[in-house]
Amino acid sequence: MLILTVLLTLAMALVLTSPVLDLGPPTAMLDSAMVSGLNDDGLTKFLGIRFAYPPIGDRRFRPPDSLPPYTTSITATQYGPACPQQSASFLHVPNIIDELENVVDKVLNHTEKQESEDCLTINVIRPENVTSSDKLPVVLWIFGVFVSSNDDNAVALVQRSVELGQPVVYAAMNYRGTQLTQNLAFGFLASQEVKDADVGNLGLRDQREAMRWVQKYISAFGGDPNKVTLWGQSAGAISISLQMLINGTETNDLYRAAFMQSGAPIPVGSITGGQKYYDFLVSETECSESNDTLSCLRNSLNLVWTPRADGTYLKENPQYLVEHNMVAGVPMVSGNCDDEGTVFSFSSTNITTPEQFKKWVKEIYVPNAPDGELNQILNLYPQTPSYGSPFDTGSLNDLTPQFKRIAAFQGDVVFQAPRRYFIQRRSGHQKIWSYLSMRDKYLPYLGSFHASDLSAGLLNDYLIRFASMLDPTKDKDNNTVVNWPEYTTESPNLYTFRPFNSDPNITQDTYRDQAISQLANLSLIYPL
Ligand SMILES: *[C@@H]1O[C@H](CO)[C@@H](O)[C@H](O)[C@H]1NC(C)=O
Ligand SMILES: *[C@@H]1O[C@H](CO)[C@@H](O)[C@H](O)[C@H]1NC(C)=O
Ligand SMILES: *[C@@H]1O[C@H](CO)[C@@H](O)[C@H](O)[C@H]1NC(C)=O
Ligand SMILES: *[C@@H]1O[C@H](CO)[C@@H](O)[C@H](O)[C@H]1NC(C)=O
Ligand SMILES: *[C@@H]1O[C@H](CO)[C@@H](O)[C@H](O)[C@H]1NC(C)=O
Ligand SMILES: *[C@@H]1O[C@H](CO)[C@@H](O)[C@H](O)[C@H]1NC(C)=O
Ligand SMILES: *[C@@H]1O[C@H](CO)[C@@H](O)[C@H](O)[C@H]1NC(C)=O
Ligand SMILES: *[C@@H]1O[C@H](CO)[C@@H](O)[C@H](O)[C@H]1NC(C)=O
Repeated sequence: MLILTVLLTLAMALVLTSPVLDLGPPTAMLDSAMVSGLNDDGLTKFLGIRFAYPPIGDRRFRPPDSLPPYTTSITATQYGPACPQQSASFLHVPNIIDELENVVDKVLNHTEKQESEDCLTINVIRPENVTSSDKLPVVLWIFGVFVSSNDDNAVALVQRSVELGQPVVYAAMNYRGTQLTQNLAFGFLASQEVKDADVGNLGLRDQREAMRWVQKYISAFGGDPNKVTLWGQSAGAISISLQMLINGTETNDLYRAAFMQSGAPIPVGSITGGQKYYDFLVSETECSESNDTLSCLRNSLNLVWTPRADGTYLKENPQYLVEHNMVAGVPMVSGNCDDEGTVFSFSSTNITTPEQFKKWVKEIYVPNAPDGELNQILNLYPQTPSYGSPFDTGSLNDLTPQFKRIAAFQGDVVFQAPRRYFIQRRSGHQKIWSYLSMRDKYLPYLGSFHASDLSAGLLNDYLIRFASMLDPTKDKDNNTVVNWPEYTTESPNLYTFRPFNSDPNITQDTYRDQAISQLANLSLIYPL
């Protein structure tokens, strides 16, 4: 007996101290199929797993179709192709600021190497030592305008989660994409035809299909399906906010928290508001002669998607749903960069006079607003450079007489006003934390530009704590390690990342009060 015990102990010691046997690639079981991934960067990655039927052929412009159970083994060692993306040519920075092109290029211009309509795949990245018996919190990334699900932020995030002792499993889906066009209206497949066929908002439906996939399969990778935090930036953050509106207060147990960087419900109107873009598209293809334009488009080209109220999936305008408290009440983080509008304003540098500015605002943002209301906006966003964006830079960065004005207006109307409106309405209904990033403030013309927080991984620690503890300030032992009070109407606290690297402190969400309030009010009356 004693000998046996000694032998067993020795054997165990041997097992524990001998070098890890090479057991082949990391694997997970999905239904009756074995999926094999790879170890890389100290992490285990399972890449490019199909989560729906390819939306090609007759499935083009239709909601995603669920897959049957997996039965054949899957090699998941490469990212799948991205969904077709529009080029980011509107981001082109003029020659005079050549040195900035690198900054923009690095941060925003992730041109995809490979694109295909057959793109509905999901990636899972986790710490290496995790097994299917672990139940780690899950961070589910919804990409924005500039990057697809294939990005490096994930590696830094998961590595950091291990360092903090709050390990997470990360997943990211591809979805049929949303686009910002030249003039920052959203690209559409939206029209009466689309509404009649009930095929609006396909990108949101793809995301939700992936969320259902996570519920079903993430435990095979060591994730806890009951602890899913949705994470997104830009169009990804807007998408998350709309996922929170899709089914009234119901989350359908698909997620328990939301972390949104630079994106809130945008004031879009009915899906038929996209008719003119749809008609233009039809006219640009061979489909104008067709008696069924939707079916013709299905057979002719790649297209883009954007959220719009379609009556069935996204039932009403987002602002209406928020106003009526038809919102999932999960804890959320929602914040902005200070100068959200700058990168989108270089393409409008040919607008140099007040008259041109007025015409441009009217055409692009409020075509139906009467002159009186339009003039109010113009007064609230004066030409004076010291009021423009990059904010707080005095007379600097005055690229054209209207540049800082355009940047201030666009940043507020698309990003800041929707965020403030959303979280003020939701205050008291759910836990909310908000932030403002002024990092990179002194980059010429760009300032604290859209996505500057993301590229720096500025929010990673807070996101990890939030995914793990439902609170961005709590460490693994549930101790408060950051002074970041919740956001309420009475005390609209912003955790503020100052220029340079000084410690963040708390400011109040009251800047440009009058202007932002006016924009929010107008967008309720005249949705995009
Ligand atoms: C983005 O990348 C493409 C391809 O590499 C390049 O042609 C384009 O100039 C870049 N755009 C910007 C704004 O840097
Ligand atoms: C994985 O290993 C790291 C470092 O050894 C440890 O901190 C972490 O808790 C482990 N994670 C799990 C899920 O076992
Ligand atoms: C909305 O909730 C209902 C009831 O739980 C559910 O049947 C339906 O699938 C949900 N819709 C979506 C889009 O998740
Ligand atoms: C459209 O035209 C096709 C033939 O080109 C015909 O088969 C079909 O019935 C027409 N559909 C309608 C709705 O008129
Ligand atoms: C600026 O350029 C755009 C795109 O080339 C053009 O559509 C618009 O009319 C121009 N605006 C002015 C005021 O020149
Ligand atoms: C952390 O502590 C708070 C009370 O301060 C408690 O309500 C919460 O449930 C704790 N969270 C965890 C994950 O233990
Ligand atoms: C936050 O820090 C900045 C710069 O360090 C300072 O100017 C400001 O007064 C501080 N605000 C508060 C509310 O402490
Ligand atoms: C916007 O509307 C709200 C509610 O009707 C009102 O209290 C507020 O004064 C309006 N803001 C502006 C700038 O008119």
